[in-house]
Amino acid sequence: MTTGMPVAEARAKRRLHVITWGCQMNVYDSARMQDVLAPLGYAPTERADDADMVILNTCHIRENASEKVFSELGRLRPLKQARPGVIFAVAGCVAQAEGQEIVARAPFVDIVMGPQTYHRLPEMVARAARAAGAVIDTEFPAESKFDHLPESAAPAISAFLTIQEGCDKFCSFCVVPYTRGAEASRPMEAVLAEARQLVAGGAREIVLLGQNVNAWHGDVGGLGRLVRKLAEIPDLLRIRYTTSHPRDMDEDLVAAHRDVPALVPFLHLPVQSGSDRVLAAMNRGHTADHYRRLVDRLREARPDLALSTDIIAGHPGETAADHQATLALIRDVGFAQAFSFKYSPRPGTPAAAATGQIPEVEKDRRLAEIQALLRDQQHAFNRACAGKSVKVLFTGPGRHPGQVAGRSPWLQPVHMTGPASLIGTETIVRIAEGHPNSLAAEPLHPAQDPQTEELACA
Ligand code: SAH
Ligand code: SF4
Ligand code: F3S
Repeated sequence: MTTGMPVAEARAKRRLHVITWGCQMNVYDSARMQDVLAPLGYAPTERADDADMVILNTCHIRENASEKVFSELGRLRPLKQARPGVIFAVAGCVAQAEGQEIVARAPFVDIVMGPQTYHRLPEMVARAARAAGAVIDTEFPAESKFDHLPESAAPAISAFLTIQEGCDKFCSFCVVPYTRGAEASRPMEAVLAEARQLVAGGAREIVLLGQNVNAWHGDVGGLGRLVRKLAEIPDLLRIRYTTSHPRDMDEDLVAAHRDVPALVPFLHLPVQSGSDRVLAAMNRGHTADHYRRLVDRLREARPDLALSTDIIAGHPGETAADHQATLALIRDVGFAQAFSFKYSPRPGTPAAAATGQIPEVEKDRRLAEIQALLRDQQHAFNRACAGKSVKVLFTGPGRHPGQVAGRSPWLQPVHMTGPASLIGTETIVRIAEGHPNSLAAEPLHPAQDPQTEELACA
């Protein structure tokens, strides 16, 4: 025991139920909260009703994301009434933005903590046991939580690693700069140490996370350099990073896509809109043309690169012509995958107070058009994989007995009938069929020489 806690307390068996919404950084944070609480005897449980502590790790990005928190709290309230000893904690971005409102609307909540303070959970749990009201910790502390987190218990084969947090870009529509705070990069050595430890624990892919992951910088160099250093770790088969901003895509990172085979040929590069007027109103700091040229440079560096993006339909002031410009950009670039959203006004952001709000029905109509186009592109990309030989990283059992599941280099979910021994390996398989959201694979016939096969879908 390194915690200096009384042995009896440390050994007490407690159950922890964590509910996670939002982006992959929240998924990472939830895993780390479990790591922080493990020395107190908390082991994860799938069920809320037998838990001794329930954590809601929340997302504030769109209105419906925030509302889920309050409806879940309503659903969980009877649990607290039946067993008052259960500790309820609300973490993440809603906690950061609306801590007081949570306490007002759900007074039975014991702990409210922001994304930067959860390393203090043991202390908060102790205080909650003593306090009458809620313990609220939504500071942006001077110390970094990363310096106070224990090692991860059991990393996944595809493991998340947060390397950068926060955002200074203040896009008109977005709450992240307010909920996550200013941009900060973790030191290269800390990242490499965590990566080595994840790989030693069985991870074969590392997904580098950050709200602006390509704004990461160390003492010498940016993300391109970090990727090259990570690629030296033996047994680390794949590296990817998300989410990147077009403005932070420097030459060295583009070159890393050419030079580093472990860097997957897939990039999530949000564009939000194809209209220069809207991009300016959004404060994105680049034009549609800049984005197109950036994609060209990336594809030159890595010809089999597939792209994914985020699109917002109906930002304030968006005209029918702006919407057409977005559809045109989507057609020009061609995305293998994408996320698209109806603009959702968020309290405190400039766009929420802007004139020219678009009626809901019109936002719905534009979003439907965008999604139809993106769906077609995704399905076409998946269909193009049929008959090809593709390297799949198998990460776990499939949905049906006897199946294994994994991801193609382009992040498509792949399932195949095959032995569990494939899990944790990167294996060349034949794609039998490209479905709208996944690929069905079969083992490569021994007579087929993978060396002569085309390892690309695009
Ligand atoms: N840092 C990333 C995005 C983080 S938020 C970037 O700069 O691209 C994830 C996505 O949610 C955004 O890309 C955007 O498409 C969407 N989003 C953010 N705020 C939104 C809002 N108010 N309404 C609708 N979509 C929003
Ligand atoms: Fe939000 Fe813009 Fe920052 Fe992305 S870059 S997190 S969209 S403010
Ligand atoms: Fe949501 Fe916060 Fe992530 S608002 S998208 S959980 S940074």
